[in-house]
Amino acid sequence: MKSVPIVFSLYNSAELSRSIVSKTGFESGKLLIHSFPDMETVVTIQSDVIGRDIILIVGLDDPNSKALPLIFAAETLRSLGAKNITLVAPYLPYMRQDAIFEIGQGITSHYFAKLISQYFDKLITIDPHLHRTHALADIYSIPNIVLHASNSIAQWIKLHIQNPVLIGPDSESLQWVEAIATLADAPYTTLNKIRKNDTDISVSLPDISQYHGTVPILVDDIISTGMTMLATINHLKNLHSTPPICIGVHGIFAQHAYENLLAAGAQRIVTCNTLSHPSNAIDISAELITALES
Ligand code: R5P
Repeated sequence: MKSVPIVFSLYNSAELSRSIVSKTGFESGKLLIHSFPDMETVVTIQSDVIGRDIILIVGLDDPNSKALPLIFAAETLRSLGAKNITLVAPYLPYMRQDAIFEIGQGITSHYFAKLISQYFDKLITIDPHLHRTHALADIYSIPNIVLHASNSIAQWIKLHIQNPVLIGPDSESLQWVEAIATLADAPYTTLNKIRKNDTDISVSLPDISQYHGTVPILVDDIISTGMTMLATINHLKNLHSTPPICIGVHGIFAQHAYENLLAAGAQRIVTCNTLSHPSNAIDISAELITALES
């Protein structure tokens, strides 16, 4: 009889991993990460993995501190006899530097893809930031599955918001906003964004004059510093609109982004559980399970 995969959870993915294990009957594995006083790391696998298929689920915000232990975990599993190792990174970092923006830079999305492709047999992720890179297969050399949170987000909107109008803060967000608006049967618009640096961002004025009595919903794939959404919230405030709801697929919330958005007047901030955060209200485990069982 074929054995079920063993699920290991690493960094902020315990809840999602538990939910996947309980809904699938996959086995739950035990993995410990110990940091020595000098901040070197050792991974201990406390499950028998010989000949087994492994699913490693990891919340990959703050990727610099997590990438090395993640690779050590994969190599340790392999050294103990694991067969195939699938990386489930619901949030895939290092996708936004997909071009050289300044002389002297490199394309880090390519380097990160090359690194991960060396250590894993397969990658499953949700709504990676595919912009100038059109498909993950263009940069990842391992088989990969790209899932989308659009259906789950649309269902959440349909269930919780009456008369929504979706606003994408930049042209890159069109792919998410359009898909979600179509599924939620809601109107949408996108803005133009100018990013001067990490935190100096301006967006064009949303034209919501035709959407009287609607609730603005700002939709983006990633909320990092929150400045993109903050610029849009400030415009909406000047237009005396209903306080907006901010929806992000991946809530990174660098520094005090979450608090800043609420203080600026967001009615509510909602994210998918790709990264564990109190704003998680949209569960994407069903999408992951379908991919893992296929
Ligand atoms: C960028 O192109 C993404 O789609 C997001 O708009 C961006 O990452 C948001 O970043 P921040 O929250 O720092 O403005």
